[in-house]
Amino acid sequence: MAAPDLERRSKEEMRLLTLGGHVGFDSLPDQLVSKSISQGFSFNILCVGETGIGKSTLMNTLFNTIFETEESGHYEACVRLRPRTYDLQESNVHLKLTIVDAVGFGDQINKDERPIVDYIDTQFENYLQEELKIQRSLFDYHDTRIHVCLYFITPTGHSLKSLDLVTMKKLDSKVNIIPIIAKADTISKSELHKFKNKIMSELDKNGVQIYQFPTDDEAVAEINAVMNAHLPFAVVGSTDEVKVGNKLVRARQYPWGIVQVENESHCDFVKLREMLIRVNMEDLREQTHSRHYELYRRHKLEEMGFQDTAAESKPISLQETYETRRKEFLCELQKKEEEMRQMFVNKVKETELELKEKEKELHERFETLKRTHQEEKRKVEEKRRQLEEEKIAFNRRKAAVEAMQAQALQATSQQPLRRDKDKKKTSGWSSIYSVTIS
Ligand code: GTP
Ligand code: MG
Repeated sequence: MAAPDLERRSKEEMRLLTLGGHVGFDSLPDQLVSKSISQGFSFNILCVGETGIGKSTLMNTLFNTIFETEESGHYEACVRLRPRTYDLQESNVHLKLTIVDAVGFGDQINKDERPIVDYIDTQFENYLQEELKIQRSLFDYHDTRIHVCLYFITPTGHSLKSLDLVTMKKLDSKVNIIPIIAKADTISKSELHKFKNKIMSELDKNGVQIYQFPTDDEAVAEINAVMNAHLPFAVVGSTDEVKVGNKLVRARQYPWGIVQVENESHCDFVKLREMLIRVNMEDLREQTHSRHYELYRRHKLEEMGFQDTAAESKPISLQETYETRRKEFLCELQKKEEEMRQMFVNKVKETELELKEKEKELHERFETLKRTHQEEKRKVEEKRRQLEEEKIAFNRRKAAVEAMQAQALQATSQQPLRRDKDKKKTSGWSSIYSVTIS
C-alpha cells in the first residue's frame, strides 16, 4: 500500500473517545514542571560591546546582584571570550547562569567578530559531540550554548558603526541577538527616538535578523508584539540606591537630577528585564536549540556527508549514508594506497638507476687508477733495471781497478832486488798505473 494511503487510513482510524471518569494524565504538565525544577535550568548570555560600555553594570542590575567583575584594559592583543558561571536560586528554581564577556571587542583595529563566532560554534560542537556519543549524558550535561547575545550599541545618536553591522550580520544565524542602546541617559529623548529608528532601518537595510519576541503564543503575543516595536531597548544600569520620596530605588545620580533604572519613562530597563527574563527566557532557550543549533548540526552532518534524501529525492537512512560513505572512503583509501605503492616503486627504480650509474662511474675510476698504477710500476721497473746495469758496470770497473792495484803492489814489493836491473822499466810501469787509475 502506498505511504499516503497508509497515513490517511491511520488518521481515519484515530477516533475521539470520551473518558468515563478521571484518569490522571492531565497531571502531565505538572509532572513536566516538577521534573524541570528538579533538573534545574541553564541560561547563557553573551555580552558584546566595546570596553567600558556598561556590560557588567547592566548584568548586575538585571540579576540584582554583584557578579565578580574585573575591568578590561584597552590594550588587549585580540578579542577574548571570558565565560563565568554562577548558581542562582529564586524560590525553588535553580539557574546555572553563564555570562560571557567579549573582552577587548571594538577597541582597536583587528579586533573583529571571529573569536566570538568561533566561541559560539565551539559550544554547539561540544553539544553535538555529546549527542553523538554512544553513552550520552545530556540529562546532566552543562549546556554552554549561547541563548542570547546582548549587543551593546554605543549611544552616539548618529548611526551604527560598520563593525556593529558586520558583527551582527555574522552572528544572526548563530545566536538570538537583542540589540540595546547602552548608557541611554547620555542621549536626549528626541535624539533617542531618532537613533532607535535609524538603527532599525539600518539593520533592516543590511538584512540583519535580530531576535523577535514570539507572537505565536496567545498568552504573550500582545505584550511581545508591543515590545518588538520598542527595539532596540535603551537601557541604563546602576546598582546604586537613591532615596526617591520615601523609597530606595536603583538610579544614577547627577548634579541636575537622578535617572531611575526601573522608571519606564526614564529608560527601557524594565522592558528588557521583562522580555529577557520574565517572559521569553524559555523561548530563547528553545530557539537556540531548534533554530541555531539545528542549523549548525545540519551543516556539520552535511559536511560529514550525511543527508536525509539521496538522488531523485529518495529518502535515505543514516545507515545507508554511512555504508555509502564507508565504501567511498575505502575506495579512496585503496586509490591512495595504489598511488603510494606506485610512487614507491618509481622511487626504488630511480634509486636503482642512480646506484647503477654510480657503480659504473666507480668502476671506470678504478680502471683508470689501475692503468696509471701499472704504468708507474713499469716505469719503476725500467729505472730499477737501469740502476742494476749501472751497478754491474761499476762493479766490473771496480774489480779491474782492484786487480791493477794488486798487480802494482806486487811489483812494488819485488823492486829492491831488481832495482838496478829494472831501473829503466819502473818508470814505464808507473806511467801505465797512473793511466789506469785515471
Ligand atoms: P569592561 O568589562 O571593562 O569592558 O566594562 P563594562 O562594559 O563591563 O562597563 P562597566 O559596567 O564596568 O561600566 C563602565 C563605566 O560605565 C562605569 O563607570 C559605570 O558606572 C558606567 N556605566 C555603566 N552603566 C552606565 C549607564 O547606564 N550610564 C552611564 N552614564 N554610565 C554607566
Ligand atoms: Mg565588564
